[in-house]
Formats: sequence, C-alpha cells, structure tokens
Amino acid sequence: MAKLIDGRAIAAEIRKEIAEETAVFKGENGYAPGLAVVIVGEDPASKVYVRNKHRACEEVGFYSEGYELPADTDEATLLALIERLNRDDRIHGILVQLPLPKHLDEEKILLAIDPAKDVDAFHPYNVGRIMIGNYDFLPCTPAGVMQLLKRSGVEIEGKECVVVGRSNIVGKPQALLLLEANGTVTVCHSRTKDLRDVCRRADILVAAIGKPEFFDASYVKEGAVVIDVGMNRRPSDGKLCGDVDFASVEPVASMITPVPGGVGPMTITMLMKNTFTAAGKQGARVK
Ligand code: GUN
Repeated sequence: MAKLIDGRAIAAEIRKEIAEETAVFKGENGYAPGLAVVIVGEDPASKVYVRNKHRACEEVGFYSEGYELPADTDEATLLALIERLNRDDRIHGILVQLPLPKHLDEEKILLAIDPAKDVDAFHPYNVGRIMIGNYDFLPCTPAGVMQLLKRSGVEIEGKECVVVGRSNIVGKPQALLLLEANGTVTVCHSRTKDLRDVCRRADILVAAIGKPEFFDASYVKEGAVVIDVGMNRRPSDGKLCGDVDFASVEPVASMITPVPGGVGPMTITMLMKNTFTAAGKQGARVK
C-alpha cells in the first residue's frame, strides 16, 4: 500500500509559513505583497482558478486585484492594462490567466509583463534563468511537485526520474528541476517508443499528459513514487481525475498523490510564494 502524499496538508503548511513571513514583511515595510490576476473571457474553469487565487491571497495577507475582461478584448487594451500594472507600486506580481481567447497572441502578451512581476515564470527571461539554474521564480506546478517530494522525504539524487509530458508549463521545467536536484531524468511524450518500458524504469514518475487515468500498474515499478499532475474529467461519470489510474497503481507504488488533493493545491500556494519573493525583490529595488 502506498503512502498518500497529502497536497492539501502540505499546501496548508506552506501557506502558514508564507502568512507568518507576510506579517513580518508588512511590519517592516508598511505594505502588503500585491498580486493582480487578469482573466479574459468566460471560461468557467479559469474563473474558478481566479477565485481561488484571490482567496489564497486573503489567507496569507496579500493585497490582490482582479480584472475580468470581456472575451472580445483587443490586444491594445490588454497590453495597456499590463503596462499600467507594470508601473503600479502596489502590484508585485501579475498573472494573466491562460488560455487566452484565440485572437490574442499569448507570446506577445506574456512578453509584455515585467519579468520582475512575472510570478508565473512564463516570460522567456525567467525561463532562461531557470535553464541556467539562477532564478527568482519557478513555474508554480513543477515547483509544487518539488515541494511535495521534498516535504515527503523523497530523495531525488541519483534516482531515475521519468517525466511524461513536455509542455512549457509543466513537463520541460519539471525535467530541469529534477535534473537540478541531481536526478537522472528522462522526458517522454506522445512519440516516445515503448512508453510503458521507460516508465517502468522510474523511481519517480511524474505524469503530465492530460489523459484521464492513462497510467495503470503496468507502467509502474514496484515501490516507485508516483506524482499525478493530471486534472481531467473522467468520461464515465464526469468526476475529477488524474492521469494515473489510482486504484490500479496505489498497491504498487510506495507513495502517490491523489487527484484531487495532490498537486492541485500546491500550484496556487507556489504562486503565493512567487508573489512574496517578487515583493521582496521589488522592495529592495526601490530602496
Ligand atoms: N492556466 C492554467 N494553469 C495556469 C497557470 O499556472 N498560470 C496561468 N497564468 N494560467 C494558467
């Protein structure tokens, strides 16, 4: 039987730490770290994320602003808002919720965010800094996975780490972070041959392909640590599920994250951490 990695408990522990640090920060500086969240359009899932982000800000004592723009917002309007937020001293972190409506050029919008306020770590400047291991911000989901491993006592050094998925938001940065922690890292994707055999080599398996319950026990070595980044709807009942078939894998793994309650709660928590870091850096910049 695998030990459950409780993302809710670990996220709560980190938020408590951030809240304590924020109280000290406010006492020393006289203002709170500030986050602006921008959402364009009516995607219901995005709206839920945005609401949760504001709630998390309140919980740790941050100032937050939300901008809900109509789906037909033009590029100039969105860029003007980002420019204004770049110059606003109350705002230390800017998050533009993705995906954006099709008519907006995502790359151009992300490039407009001041890299010092880029708490998603999506700006190419911050992506480059992660590549060379000298960064202020990490993308929230892979950073959350690293915290789950660390706070569950999982040793990474020298371990076979297999990341399935190569997105810019999760797979690629996840591979870099495991490499930085001295793991031996393999990145798999939709064209990988013998995916099952590669996965079965993993001491640490990170599943991030967005296919409901794709990985069953036949993909998992006895005693592996299994991290499920998936967030899918199960076709049979519409319930939330991961990329891992939990019932099948749980008896084989040594540790496993559930969905929901695993990686999910960590993502927003890491956003809070990045916003706190951004506030500290920008405070130092004006002093
Ligand atoms: N959409 C889904 N996840 C994320 C995220 O972490 N950041 C942003 N900006 N958009 C997202």
